[in-house]
Amino acid sequence: TRTQVAIVGAGPSGLLLGQLLFKAGIDAIIVERQSGDYVLSRIRAGVLEQVTMDLLDEAGVGQRMHAEGLIHGGFDLLFKGARHRIDMNKLTGGKNVIVYGQTEVTRDLMDARQAAGLPTVYEAENVQVHDFDSAKPRVTYEKNGQLHTIECDFIAGCDGFHGVCRASAPKSAIKEFEKVYPFGWLGVLSDTPPVHHELIYANSTRGFALCSQRSATRSRYYLQVPLTDKVEQWSDEAFWAELRNRLDPEAREHLVTGPSIEKSIAPLRSFVTEPMRFGRMFLAGDAAHIVPPTGAKGLNLAATDVKYLSSAFIAYYMDKTEAGIDAYSERCLRRIWRAERFSWWFTSLMHNFPENGDIGQKFQDAELDYLIHSEAGSRTMAENYVGLPLNFGE
Ligand code: FAD
Ligand code: DHB
Repeated sequence: TRTQVAIVGAGPSGLLLGQLLFKAGIDAIIVERQSGDYVLSRIRAGVLEQVTMDLLDEAGVGQRMHAEGLIHGGFDLLFKGARHRIDMNKLTGGKNVIVYGQTEVTRDLMDARQAAGLPTVYEAENVQVHDFDSAKPRVTYEKNGQLHTIECDFIAGCDGFHGVCRASAPKSAIKEFEKVYPFGWLGVLSDTPPVHHELIYANSTRGFALCSQRSATRSRYYLQVPLTDKVEQWSDEAFWAELRNRLDPEAREHLVTGPSIEKSIAPLRSFVTEPMRFGRMFLAGDAAHIVPPTGAKGLNLAATDVKYLSSAFIAYYMDKTEAGIDAYSERCLRRIWRAERFSWWFTSLMHNFPENGDIGQKFQDAELDYLIHSEAGSRTMAENYVGLPLNFGE
């Protein structure tokens, strides 16, 4: 088989890239290791920035998001037992975020891809990328015991943190930056009404907690837990009791509990690969970078990488220029480092770090006090949370 762009990975990055290229008349094939149902079963992100909403509209898949997504103009910070609202909308001159689950984004993109009859190979085994340092790159995979080859102009590595693309880049050409945090997030999804109509990010002496949601009847909650904890150790009762302990009296009273419909632990890490281009292979999304989830930036960064990449490919095929391709890595990385810094900072501010002692907690309290009571502090927080525009700094 031959195509213009071979996309590895059918998560949000790969699917969005496929859709943006399709709109521009560029051929692509997506090769995914898992089944479609498996990809849809991974409960992850919930918050989309305005730029991500705009990109989903541009890809022609924004309809259900606008109908079902929940617009949020603010969120609460809880510390020392009291909640304080950050009025994002007011502080940023009218910007909002939307609460719409990653699984829904993925489903909308999968449906659009299927409706357009575009090729996706699911359950592809032993996916490998070849010769991307030449003009004739190839992707090979096995399916039902048979070896398949896709010849292409470019390879897009949208295969997540554990993917094959970054792992195939020459070690001498790649530099990785990494920080692993000494705790994880235990997440629970439940068909219960959210404790509050907006998100609550809580700093407590017992550890961080986040109250999020998917709809008026579905909640998503997270707890900071030791990395050594196993999900089997956490009964639903234990989860709700611990969450309650980390909330303020009003939220405690309003919390509605029920059986969990998903429960998982995710480690927290900051990670960036430089560069993001290796000859004719380009990395996008979690394949190139990871942020700790506190700032809700991962999926949003993936979407903007993909926008820069699709624009670069479109300029290559339509305008016969390699300028976009050459600028891709640098353009992405500047935006990525800004989001990495914010996510690291917000994570450091909100979690328990016993190794920092009592003074560490006092520093956090003082910084939160400043953020709440200084308009400059609140605006800094709001401006970063709603996200940078695509063309920031240009
Ligand atoms: P992935 O979603 O990881 O997709 C990669 C795909 O490639 C997968 O389907 C995988 O099966 C496939 N693949 C892997 N290896 C191969 C291979 N060798 N061959 C073929 N296919 C392969 N982000 C936000 O913006 N907001 C949030 O609120 C938020 N909350 C989060 C909460 C949690 C608990 C977690 C874990 C993450 C959260 N994120 C959030 C981050 C967000 O989920 C990721 O950034 C996003 O999934 C990245 O999309 P991706 O397509 O780049 O990678
Ligand atoms: C969700 C996840 C996040 O990491 C975050 O910062 C906000 C919301 C969520 O899953 O709803």
